[in-house]
Amino acid sequence: MKILAVNGSPRGRRGNTERIVQPFLKGAQEAGAETETVYLKDREIKHCQGCFTCWTKTPGVCIHQDDMPALLEKVRQADVIVFATPLYIYTVSGLMKDFMDRLLPMAQPYILQRGDHFIHPPRYPREEGESVKFVLISNAGFPERCHFSALEETFRRLAASPETDLAGTICCAAGELLGQEAMRDQLTWYLDAAQQAGREVVEQGQISTVTQAILDRPLADDPAVYANVTNAYWESLGVEKLGFGEAGLEAQGTEVAAYGTPLPPPSSRDSMRNLVAGMALTLNPREASDLEAVVQFKVTGDEPGDYFLDIAQGRCKAYEGEHPDPTLTIHTPSDVWMAISNGEMNGAAAMMTGKYSIQGNLGLLMRFDKLFSAPQAN
Ligand SMILES: Cc1cc2nc3c(=O)[nH]c(=O)nc-3n(C[C@H](O)[C@H](O)[C@H](O)COP(=O)(O)O)c2cc1C
Repeated sequence: MKILAVNGSPRGRRGNTERIVQPFLKGAQEAGAETETVYLKDREIKHCQGCFTCWTKTPGVCIHQDDMPALLEKVRQADVIVFATPLYIYTVSGLMKDFMDRLLPMAQPYILQRGDHFIHPPRYPREEGESVKFVLISNAGFPERCHFSALEETFRRLAASPETDLAGTICCAAGELLGQEAMRDQLTWYLDAAQQAGREVVEQGQISTVTQAILDRPLADDPAVYANVTNAYWESLGVEKLGFGEAGLEAQGTEVAAYGTPLPPPSSRDSMRNLVAGMALTLNPREASDLEAVVQFKVTGDEPGDYFLDIAQGRCKAYEGEHPDPTLTIHTPSDVWMAISNGEMNGAAAMMTGKYSIQGNLGLLMRFDKLFSAPQAN
């Protein structure tokens, strides 16, 4: 089985879309498929002129002389085509749209009724009973999955012919988190599911309902927390806020803490600041549904500082500063807490031997493993 992945991100190999495509293809390879990725940003693909010459004077051949004829040949040879695109204004990227428009020579101009709909029949029909499978892979900056509705409908329509099947859609909301180095360990559940999806498309012809359900989960469990963290990031870059009025940027349902400044999203796991910011994103809302607490970090050593986590209603926000009434205070040198977080030091043993100390609610500390863990699939 040949799988052609077409990546329409202008960021190409460095993009968030690619972070889903590669595990998907790895899974497909493990199941025996031959795979190839084409990066549209590296190809010359001119806009379709709408002249229909490829349907009339030179059937199957476009007026443009660019990289598209070679790509059409790859499309013809493929059993599965992965359309991989970032979500741009609720749909595919411009690169992907040009590619899709230029697939026109693959169809005939006539329209035929197939089932309930009219379609353009393919110019190069597959063998009797064979179909080409499409997979959509996308990711978006917004944290809710509903943003993909128009994109998914496009691909449902594109695959609505007897010779094409939509084998599954991987639409990752809050996909910007995929690019955060510090989030890598927390997001393995999603990338593992993408790999499993690749295997399933090869072995079963489609993504299973269980895997699909996992892949339909946004990366951030709480859109309001994600919004606040994202906004803190733009603020940290000094981007001016215009026209937000008194309410500011704070997402609904959360309160501005008067005692600290929100931490921007982590760029890596190599500093205490980033580590605390990362903890806020990994709160497991199910574990924290009953919890209202403030965890204060009083950090000494190489990277001294005061940070706190404000946990309420299944949400967690990270701040730099000192809270007047923390539920639990952790006094720790930065290297000790980082070693514990990276699994290089046992947390309980470190406390027993005085490497760090706490004040307040010990029971809360003992819940940390469950509270700050990647979300589990339902
Ligand atoms: C021009 C443009 C339009 C975008 N439109 C949307 C959008 O409609 N909805 C959304 O959630 N994110 C939108 N985004 C954010 C991208 O989907 C997001 O940055 C994504 O992670 C990029 O993936 P990539 O790194 O593979 O290119 C847009 C980004 C750009 C540059």
